[in-house]
Amino acid sequence: MDPLKLIKHAIKAQGYSKSKYSNFPVGCALLSYDNEVIYGCNIESAVYPSTLCAERVAIYSALSRGIVKFKSIAIVSNNGAKPCGSCRQIIYEYLGNIPIYISDSKGLEYKQHCIEELLPYPFG
Ligand code: THU
Repeated sequence: MDPLKLIKHAIKAQGYSKSKYSNFPVGCALLSYDNEVIYGCNIESAVYPSTLCAERVAIYSALSRGIVKFKSIAIVSNNGAKPCGSCRQIIYEYLGNIPIYISDSKGLEYKQHCIEELLPYPFG
């Protein structure tokens, strides 16, 4: 799938974000090996530590449906932020070395990264 198309899905997922505490909506679209697109958005809670990032919502959603092979992932936020450390660890463990497309929520351009670059010297 064209990266910009996957980013469009991530923008749609960003629209589902529950982020009234941080005001920082994040969307994620994960492309499975069978070309299914799995959405994730950050979901925040009044109990702040119960918040979960968009990337992990998407990855855990896919894994819990038995989807374990992936082609690529797109992550969108208003400023095109890169994934947090916890999400980098989970991407490393469960997605492996797939392209990671990162964009702001305009979705006109993107940066491509790989986990080896975002998480050097990983644990595990
Ligand atoms: N967030 C993500 O969804 N993904 C990241 O990789 C970094 C942070 C969310 C968590 C929280 O809801 C908000 O962004 C501010 O930290």
